[in-house]
Amino acid sequence: MTTRNVAIVGTQWGDEGKGKLVDLLTPAFSIVARYQGGHNAGHTVFVNGRKFVLHLIPSGILHAGVTCVIGNGVVVDPEALFAEIDELRREGIEPVGRLFISERAHVILPYHRDVEQAAEAARGDRRIGTTARGIGPSYEDKSGRRGIRMADLADADPDGPLGQTIRANVCARNRTVDGEELDWRSVRQDLLAAWPRLEPLVADVSRLLDDGGRKGRRILFEGAQGTMLDLDHGTYPFVSSSNGTVGGICAGLGVPPRAIGEVLGVSKAYSTRVGGGPFPTELGGAFGEALRESGDEYGASTGRPRRVGWFDAVVVRHAARLNGLDALALTKLDVLDGLAEIKLCTHYRCGDQVLNDVPASVGRLASCKPQYETMPGWSRPTAGLRRFDDLPVEARRYIARLEEVTGQTVAIVSTGSDRNDTIIRPGSAAARWLA
Ligand code: IMP
Repeated sequence: MTTRNVAIVGTQWGDEGKGKLVDLLTPAFSIVARYQGGHNAGHTVFVNGRKFVLHLIPSGILHAGVTCVIGNGVVVDPEALFAEIDELRREGIEPVGRLFISERAHVILPYHRDVEQAAEAARGDRRIGTTARGIGPSYEDKSGRRGIRMADLADADPDGPLGQTIRANVCARNRTVDGEELDWRSVRQDLLAAWPRLEPLVADVSRLLDDGGRKGRRILFEGAQGTMLDLDHGTYPFVSSSNGTVGGICAGLGVPPRAIGEVLGVSKAYSTRVGGGPFPTELGGAFGEALRESGDEYGASTGRPRRVGWFDAVVVRHAARLNGLDALALTKLDVLDGLAEIKLCTHYRCGDQVLNDVPASVGRLASCKPQYETMPGWSRPTAGLRRFDDLPVEARRYIARLEEVTGQTVAIVSTGSDRNDTIIRPGSAAARWLA
């Protein structure tokens, strides 16, 4: 079998544990590439008890010698990028020299954050609950053909295209945002001051990946957010502003479809979401509270408490089809340790209809009633287990049922936050990737 590239995507609402999976699989790859989103993502990785939270830079950076790529589909806030580079340096990791950002990637500017706050406030009860990082307005400028790309930043002429675009965008911002006006000249100055630090990172990423592929270097594509936050296929409008599903890879990195190879979907053993929007299996009350605490379900980027719920097979089937999954990684199984029973949503009821697929309308999704199967829980802890056969029989039955209702094979089970607290099932796709 020829070596192949692998994509890692979230099958729920983000926060599935993709960072840990990328970190785990990186030793088998030479390049790790992000294709969408921005520093709204929060990929938490524990290595030898040290916690790293990466927002923008691919988690592969924690491995010496691995090239990390930020594609044109990602929106980059220079301040956030520099903060992350500085943080890595404090931990003894030097990203410069092996971190490359597409010259076509769009830049997030301070006015994007202001515009987002104003838009969220105007939405009132229907606010999306964004991460307030300026992600959406930056993508809006991109689609509106008024965005600023990395390649534009070398333009030092105040009357040149960069100066003119900043001026027009800041004037538009000043018309829509109440309060203190921004001075376009200082926005431009800050950007020009950032350029010498950005310049050594900027590259033709599509060319870099193509050259790497020709030399037999394997690429791991790192998705951010999750399928249900995908701009087109998620719970629109309660979504992020990019395509986190595999479809985003070609456009977001400049690679052809055949470069993708295989796809690993990541699912938590239950569900979570941050921000507004429908969440059929959501658990409220003391039980939900207890699950949030035992899973430490607080946003890696914003610290916000995550909403928690039972595993939703309708959602994961949706993700499996959209992404063409080859296997699933099931994370945070240990968080369910000690529960007397565990519920698993297999389909929805909406009025007198049975639904096996996620409806497009959020209003309809919000009125869906999840239909559950109840399974016995397990009392013996799974935390830290590293062999599938060591799992309690009830946990193995839960996984087997989950495989049946999603139509997927669980290749990896994560039983703790550390890189080593992981079960790779012998003979699975994951075992083959790591061989
Ligand atoms: P935005 O991406 O900041 O525009 O936020 C849009 C929605 O996506 C909000 O509900 C956010 O909470 C959610 N979101 C964005 N990034 C992540 C993530 O990495 N994990 C979980 N939710 C996210």
